[in-house]
Amino acid sequence: MGIEARKSRRSVLLGGGTLLAAAGLAALDPGAGRARMRLPEVGAWPWPKGGLDPVRTAGAAADDDWHGCGVVSFGLIVEGLKRTLPRSAWPALPPQLASFANGGGPYGSDCGALQGPLLVMNLLGAPPELRQELYKWYCEFPFPSRDWDHLYPFKGTVTSVSRSPLCHQSRAIWEGVYLREAYDGKAYDGTRCAKLPRDCVRKAVELVNAWTSSGYRGSWAPDPGSQACYDCHTRLYKDKQPGGIHSGKADCGPCHAAVPEHGGPGPSGS
Ligand code: HEC
Ligand code: HEC
Repeated sequence: MGIEARKSRRSVLLGGGTLLAAAGLAALDPGAGRARMRLPEVGAWPWPKGGLDPVRTAGAAADDDWHGCGVVSFGLIVEGLKRTLPRSAWPALPPQLASFANGGGPYGSDCGALQGPLLVMNLLGAPPELRQELYKWYCEFPFPSRDWDHLYPFKGTVTSVSRSPLCHQSRAIWEGVYLREAYDGKAYDGTRCAKLPRDCVRKAVELVNAWTSSGYRGSWAPDPGSQACYDCHTRLYKDKQPGGIHSGKADCGPCHAAVPEHGGPGPSGS
């Protein structure tokens, strides 16, 4: 390989954006000289001026090869963006990019239907509280809604509230209710985690529309039952006292029902 050839190969390999653009965008617009267009900076990806339609985006057909809550939630938003912004960089992103988050990832941690929209919000540069509002809403929402029943063989799926963004808690609580109260022992309703990503997409699109159209930056406050715990324990962290917590916004109750240090269950703000 001559020096020139090496140089040009190097410039392609070094610019991650250039490489992706060459792979994704050139195919979209061959011959228009866009092959070397760089992907936008993370935090500066475009959102359509008129926003996306939350229900249409969330209710669109899912491709047969989209598997998992991360892929479906990310894919639905990206498809909506491809439709409205066909000449942007969005078409370069395959929905499977979010497959890492399916089922909460390798350890069943944050639900993939939160992480798909979160990945979009990250590319857009959405404010932290907008992201936290999405998470908090998730913790309180009785999933799944009936609004997507027309797309699935099972209607009226039993609902549950997780009080947690974790896949483990979200799914396990639902499974517990479903198997005890609704399952007939024959036809297992596997549609819960197909419908749930659509609920999350609708909410995320509403939040992003509000941010991009009117500058709404989101709102977050601790769960009422955890307000005193959160305030005191984050204060302890500031003061570098034992008991200080550096991170953690989920409702404390489900994991810390009884706190030995406080001398019994639920110090309830004392
Ligand atoms: C007014 C302040 C205050 C409030 C309110 C408070 N805590 Fe604490 N908590 C502390 C302090 C201080 C410690 C650490 C004590 C130590 O280790 O010396 C502690 C310890 C803990 C620990 C560690 C216990 C252990 O056994 O190591 C947990 C978990 C905890 N708190 C959870 C909670 C939860 C959940 C709530 C709300 C239901 C709450 N706290 C409310 C001050 C508070
Ligand atoms: C998903 C479950 C979960 C949630 C939700 C959660 N925690 Fe924890 N927390 C844990 C676990 C598990 C530990 C580690 C416990 C241990 O090692 O003893 C821990 C540790 C702590 C500790 C340190 C305990 C020590 O050894 O001193 C404090 C303080 C604490 N949590 C407070 C909180 C507060 C306040 C909230 C709510 C704002 C909260 N946690 C929410 C699971 C959780």
